[in-house]
Order: sequence, then C-alpha cells, then structure tokens
Amino acid sequence: MCLNQSRPTRLISDSAARTRAIAAELAERLQPGDVVALRGPMGAGKTVFVKGIADAFGVREPVTSATFTIITEYEGRIPLVHADLYRLHGSAEAAETGLQDYLRDSSVVVVIEWAERASDLYPSDTIWISISVSEDGRRAIAIDRTEQQP
Ligand SMILES: Nc1ncnc2c1ncn2[C@@H]1O[C@H](COP(=O)(O)OP(=O)(O)OP(=O)(O)O)[C@@H](O)[C@H]1O
Ligand SMILES: [Mg+2]
Repeated sequence: MCLNQSRPTRLISDSAARTRAIAAELAERLQPGDVVALRGPMGAGKTVFVKGIADAFGVREPVTSATFTIITEYEGRIPLVHADLYRLHGSAEAAETGLQDYLRDSSVVVVIEWAERASDLYPSDTIWISISVSEDGRRAIAIDRTEQQP
C-alpha cells in the first residue's frame, strides 16, 4: 500500500477483521505528525479502522468509541490521538475541543472519525479514508493522500 501515489488506493473488506488488518498495514507507513481523516456512515467501520491503527502502534489499552469523550489519547510506539466529531457541528466547535493543538503536535498521529465535520482544520497532506458499505455488506475503503477532500 503506497501513500505517496497521486491516485487513491481502493480496497474491499469482507469482515471487521480484514478492515482492522488493512488499517494496521496502512499504519506501518504512518509517521508522527500524520493526520488520518475517516469518513463514512454510522457503522461503516471507522472505529474498527482506528483499532487496526492502534494494533500497529502497540497500543495496549482497548480503543473504544470516542463519541462521548470527543478526544482520547493512547500510549503506543507512536502516541495515538483518536477524535470523533460526530457530536460536533462544525470547525468552530471542533476548535474548542483542543483538536488543533493535537493537529499541530508533530509527535503524535491523529485519527479523526466524522472528519468531514471540520475538514478546514487539517493539514493539506491529511490522509483521507472513505469507507462505504455495499449492498452485500462489504466495505469499500478508499485511501487518498491529497490536498483535496475526495
Ligand atoms: N468489512 C467490515 N469492516 C468493518 N466493520 C464491519 C465489516 N463488516 C461488518 N462490520 C461490523 O460493522 C460494525 C462497524 O462498527 P464501527 O463502530 O467500527 O463503525 P463506525 O463507522 O465507527 O460507526 P460510528 O459512526 O457509529 O462511530 C462492527 O460491528 C463490525 O463488526
Ligand atoms: Mg465509530
């Protein structure tokens, strides 16, 4: 999986375990300072994806939904910051949570669920992951490192 291509990578996942493994594989290529923005409907597998990143970083604490806490930090080989913007309504509200301090922190990786709610806050090299659910339940995962939100 190459993140530097100009074309997006598209993968199909037929299970939560596969999505988690895809995320772990991607995470091996992440570096401190990277921002990963997750989009996709409720139940698509965004939190499953974050768990896969945590696996690759050797996070011991179980990753849980960050919907109510909004931002949770996990200790790992690279510190992992998990944000979930579901309950927020836009960038102004997101800015009040302290998210921007994490986005500026070059020692952590920030992974954001419902990321499209505050897309103007992120750096231009943010990695966008879009997960969609097919009629048969499989997930299509698009990974795109681009200056434009897909
Ligand atoms: N291919 C798949 N990839 C990921 N999850 C899958 C897949 N197939 C089934 N699932 C199931 O779908 C659910 C995904 O839940 P998850 O909490 O990760 O979604 P989410 O996108 O974070 O939702 P929310 O918007 O509510 O935070 C899990 O119950 C998981 O087992
Ligand atoms: Mg979630």
